[in-house]
Amino acid sequence: MSPYAHITGWGMSVPSIVLTNEEISQRMDTSDEWIQSRTGIRERHIAGPDQTSASLAIEASLKALEVANLSPDELDLIIVATSSPEHIFPATACLVQDQIGAGNAGAFDLLAACTGFIFALNMATQAIRSGSVKNALVIGTETLSRLVDWEDRNTCILFGDGAGAFVLQAHEEPAGVLSAVMRSDGSGGDLLSIPAGGSRLPTSLETVRNKDHYIHMNGREVFRFATRVMVQATREAVEAAQITIDDISLIIPHQANARIIEAAMRGLAIPMERCLINVDRYGNTSTASIPIAVCEAVKDGRLNPGDKVVFVGFGAGLTWGAAVAQWSGPFPVRRKVRPVSYRMWARVRSFLRRLLRRIEGLIWGTQYPDW
Ligand code: ACO
Repeated sequence: MSPYAHITGWGMSVPSIVLTNEEISQRMDTSDEWIQSRTGIRERHIAGPDQTSASLAIEASLKALEVANLSPDELDLIIVATSSPEHIFPATACLVQDQIGAGNAGAFDLLAACTGFIFALNMATQAIRSGSVKNALVIGTETLSRLVDWEDRNTCILFGDGAGAFVLQAHEEPAGVLSAVMRSDGSGGDLLSIPAGGSRLPTSLETVRNKDHYIHMNGREVFRFATRVMVQATREAVEAAQITIDDISLIIPHQANARIIEAAMRGLAIPMERCLINVDRYGNTSTASIPIAVCEAVKDGRLNPGDKVVFVGFGAGLTWGAAVAQWSGPFPVRRKVRPVSYRMWARVRSFLRRLLRRIEGLIWGTQYPDW
């Protein structure tokens, strides 16, 4: 029997700096009333100068590991879903792997924009179900405030920064992620994109002058697409889990816009009480929005062991998807692990590795070792 991928840990991290609609409306031609009525967003968190996608991811991950009572060196796999990676390469996941001291994990980034967390959750689940991975860390992390044009009122009001993480662990009992659907339609790639900075349009004075390194979006088209696919993906994932919509205790949708979520819930004929919305306080944190919402749902007692929950999202690509999970919680404690204490050792380990590489370089000079 294939093991199941239980969600045994969860954690979130958002910057302490809060940017309200009022503050934005002092800088440009918009208003709190316009933003709230069109999006449901009231405020968002913005990364400070020392915060990055990796640093937020690390904080969220250590919290998730603490809940799961798992030490970082027990991880086999780390997937970071992000639309705002620290670099094109190395992967943000490798920075996280190094800084939390996950010495035995393979780590990579997954790019499916705001749907990334659902895709990453499914990839980690399949790795566990195949038997090749026992413990996985799935992270959604963003500092999209660095990729929006703060003079473009169409986009800058929407996004916020933050990170959320899940620990997934193998167990024979049927629970955890029960089904997932992943879909894409590249013909809509131009509806939501960052045109420059990749190999197609490398950064140049001209791309910077044209602001092509910022998010470009056709809001109306994305809105229409989103309401349609959220309904479709939820239905497909529920059917694949061989349950019905009535069995679902809570829907946790990608938090892009409260109007999109409300339209999708109407399409599914699900009352809003069974749906979580926190976009008012965080804006659209892209890949981080679902795990952040999960952390709040657990804290508020809206998600309890045995509950069946749907995660559903959409994003650039175009991509969309949904997953059905049966909530279980952490495995019984064997010994108390404090993942934060691993952080210092991870730093020492990372420093020693860099030092060793330097010494090797001095010893070998321009020659290669003859293994
Ligand atoms: N303040 C005031 N007026 C504004 C603002 C603003 N911040 N932004 C746009 N407007 C104006 C427009 O210029 C337009 O004026 P015009 O008619 O004179 O041209 C008018 O308001 C109406 O614009 P619409 O685009 O029709 O407004 P709409 O009701 O569609 O709301 C919005 C726009 C909020 C962007 C909506 O379309 C939306 O949420 N779309 C989905 C976006 C989304 O979810 N993106 C993230 C996807 S996830 C990912 O992968 C990153």
